[in-house]
Amino acid sequence: MTTQYTTSPLSTTEQPRPQGVAVPELSPLMQQYKDLKADHQDSILFFRVGDFYEMFYDDAVYASKILDIALTSRDKNKADRVPLCGFPYHAASTYISKLLKGGHKVALCEQTEDAKLVKDKRPVRREVVRVYTPGTLVESELLATHENNYLAALAPERDRVGLAYLDLSTGEFRATELVGHDLSHAVMDELTRIDPRELLLPDGPGHPALRTLDLTRFQTVSHLPAATFDETQAKNLLTEHFKPSPHKAMSPNTTPVVTSAAGALLSYVKELQPLHQLSHITALHITPPETTMVLDTATQQNLELVHSLNNRTAEGSLRRAIDRTLTPMGSRMLRSWMVRPLISVDAIQKRQDAVATFYADLSLHTALREGLDSVYDLERVTGRISTGVANARDLLMLSLSLSHLPTLGQHIASCTAPLIQECATTWDAMQDIHGWIEAAIQPEVPMTIKEGGIIRDGYHEALDELRTISRDGKSWIAQMEATERANTGIDSLKIKYNQVFGYAIEVSRANLAKVPEHFIRRQTLVNAERFVTPELKELEGKIVSADEKIRALEFKLFDELRVKIEKETSRIQAMAHTIALLDVLTSLAHLAQERRYVKPDIADDLEILIHDGRHPVVEQAIGPGTARSEISGFIPNDVCLNNETQRMLIITGPNMAGKSTYLRQVAHIVILAQMGSFVPALTAKIGIVDRIFTRIGASDNLTAGLSTFMVEMTETANILSHASSRSLILLDEVGRGTSTFDGLSIAWAVAEYIHTYRGLQARTLFATHYHELTELPNNRAGMKNYHIAVQEKGDTILFLRKIVEGKADRSYGIHVAQLAGLPIPVIVRAKEILAQLEGQSSDPIESYPHQTAKSEPSSTLARSNKAKVHNVPDDSPQMGLF
Ligand SMILES: Nc1ncnc2c1ncn2[C@@H]1O[C@H](COP(=O)(O)OP(=O)(O)O)[C@@H](O)[C@H]1O
Ligand SMILES: [Mg+2]
Repeated sequence: MTTQYTTSPLSTTEQPRPQGVAVPELSPLMQQYKDLKADHQDSILFFRVGDFYEMFYDDAVYASKILDIALTSRDKNKADRVPLCGFPYHAASTYISKLLKGGHKVALCEQTEDAKLVKDKRPVRREVVRVYTPGTLVESELLATHENNYLAALAPERDRVGLAYLDLSTGEFRATELVGHDLSHAVMDELTRIDPRELLLPDGPGHPALRTLDLTRFQTVSHLPAATFDETQAKNLLTEHFKPSPHKAMSPNTTPVVTSAAGALLSYVKELQPLHQLSHITALHITPPETTMVLDTATQQNLELVHSLNNRTAEGSLRRAIDRTLTPMGSRMLRSWMVRPLISVDAIQKRQDAVATFYADLSLHTALREGLDSVYDLERVTGRISTGVANARDLLMLSLSLSHLPTLGQHIASCTAPLIQECATTWDAMQDIHGWIEAAIQPEVPMTIKEGGIIRDGYHEALDELRTISRDGKSWIAQMEATERANTGIDSLKIKYNQVFGYAIEVSRANLAKVPEHFIRRQTLVNAERFVTPELKELEGKIVSADEKIRALEFKLFDELRVKIEKETSRIQAMAHTIALLDVLTSLAHLAQERRYVKPDIADDLEILIHDGRHPVVEQAIGPGTARSEISGFIPNDVCLNNETQRMLIITGPNMAGKSTYLRQVAHIVILAQMGSFVPALTAKIGIVDRIFTRIGASDNLTAGLSTFMVEMTETANILSHASSRSLILLDEVGRGTSTFDGLSIAWAVAEYIHTYRGLQARTLFATHYHELTELPNNRAGMKNYHIAVQEKGDTILFLRKIVEGKADRSYGIHVAQLAGLPIPVIVRAKEILAQLEGQSSDPIESYPHQTAKSEPSSTLARSNKAKVHNVPDDSPQMGLF
């Protein structure tokens, strides 16, 4: 769902009034609302009134629908009614979360002075204390644990675009510069990897690269004044933020467009968080784009890396299949590795060595995983600490996590793999921070930080004294109760506490006669009366003021501790990163053991050799294959691609044979290998791939509904113009989206072009139902025919799922149709027609009545026409019928 919601309720509600009609004066409260709203036009304003949040005008009309709450109106009896809806204050987070999911922004307006203190008739002071936008959240209840929550900004300039992105909940701040002749593609590809929740763009007509960007893919797009992107202003802001050492925090190769994107982004975030320094944003990391494999948007989707194609959920994705991490930080890092596989052999091997170390030492990795399992989300704790939303439970969570660090550190101390050694040498167990929290915070604490019950006894002298007064005061009350009972002889006399009246002596009606003179009556109940005495009042004063002071002091002490820890943010972040790294590495080792993956050989050449490879996702769905001969479970397959004899493989086989699975399996294995993981195979050797391109046929591509053929051709064009000899191309049923002959011709020409065009000549797997294409390898070196075998068993066929050299001899379309449950009469008739058509098999292609097929725009019509025509060549009816 995509919504770009821009509210301007006041401007739209306030229609020009007919001349001569007096403008009714707004009440002071509504005037206050109007002023606040004017500053937050693009947000839905939650306006605090007592114990409620209220919305007015268009906000109310709109929100009442989305939030499913009743719409009423203010000043019901007046002609000029104001639409109104609202809900109790404690329900706010549910409603905020609902609106954010829909891509909206919420401005939270609070009463910022005590209503009791307002003497004149003005409304209590109100201020917007926080604006919630989908890309700037820090509250754990509003975030998905295992997902980063990125806000991205684009700064376009002539031939380049600066792209900055920030996860405010963790402080991760990165930027990159994109250049090239196909900017909008490059921008989109990068944005797909980042998957931001909110995108910031400069106002105005904009740059061509951004104009062609498909903004409907982003839930929330916010336009900022172009001046925010001004480079000088951006630079000043960044320098100011990273004080005292901006040069350390920003790389010297931060280019002008990168500066403007990063600066604009930071200024937006700072405006939404005016009260906080955001000290957890400690550096701006520049990502050089050429260090990772390029995965364009279509490929990321087609390979179902993060979401499955059919329902956009994680179920069925590669990520879900391989994620064995135990911490949210690890899970987020694993995702980022997966969408950015490496292309340097050394860098890949460095990761592999670490995974191999854990793979080989089961007891080490089990011990590590036990420890990691108890580590909470350290990255996000730093975010909450720096934005002031952390509570005592967050600190306890931090402390508990830190308590595992010494042991974890010892476990890896003697590892020799360089990547693990780096972790070990920079290890910071942070026992000082752990000690501060342990000393200060009670083991059981409430959610709120304003009600006390947080700080330990013995931590702060004044607090201890106040607590003694409060505690003693309460025992004095108990004593007083006993004394008054004895003095009055009223056994049922009680001293009770009540929010409104404070402490009072309660005497039941039956005993009223015994009440002494000096008792002062305060309140009459049904069966009792309440009294106070001067002594009781004095005692109460002491206790109540002690309790109030305790709450205030505890809050102050907590905040001091929070600020003290905030100063250590960069240490915590560094360890969060180390923990995430260990988590990812051990999880990959765990996965490799669990699913019998092997370490692939990585080389700087063009050979891909996979023996008994498996599809990581399908294998987990249907279970591993049992014996070779049995057709159950997943059947492994080999792959051999190189730059000489096996550069392009044409893969045929009936529908459902397993062609698409095979193609995706190869891509998944390459991605896993280059991200440093082991792979599902018996052995594998991967010659580095710089880009993977995929074109998955129309009927497999569930983005259908658009002009599928157009999408198909655009993607194909993209492949032909960007692929190089280091790329891996997967073409699955290219040409299916148009009429048979058009499709066949295009598929043929595309295959030829990739095969022969210098500078292209990429390793290619081409799955097709066009049998004509099996002619291609006849006189072209480097092209080979393969097919996925089936076994004919009487009327039916058995899918063997085995790839073998050579072309498929038949398409078995009718067999598959029969398996799919087409009515028998249709099957019988189809066989008749096929037999008739096959009878004409000696006719050359040229004799095919071109006119008929060509003049039919729809492939379905083309097919039905062919069935009627009798002089159709051998292969065509098979390929055309199904
Ligand atoms: N190697 C395999 N072992 C077991 N089942 C497989 C294998 N390859 C594919 N399949 C199953 O066969 C079905 C069809 O595969 P698919 O790749 O879509 O076929 P095609 O693209 O040839 O029509 C899939 O549902 C998949 O689960
Ligand atoms: Mg297929």
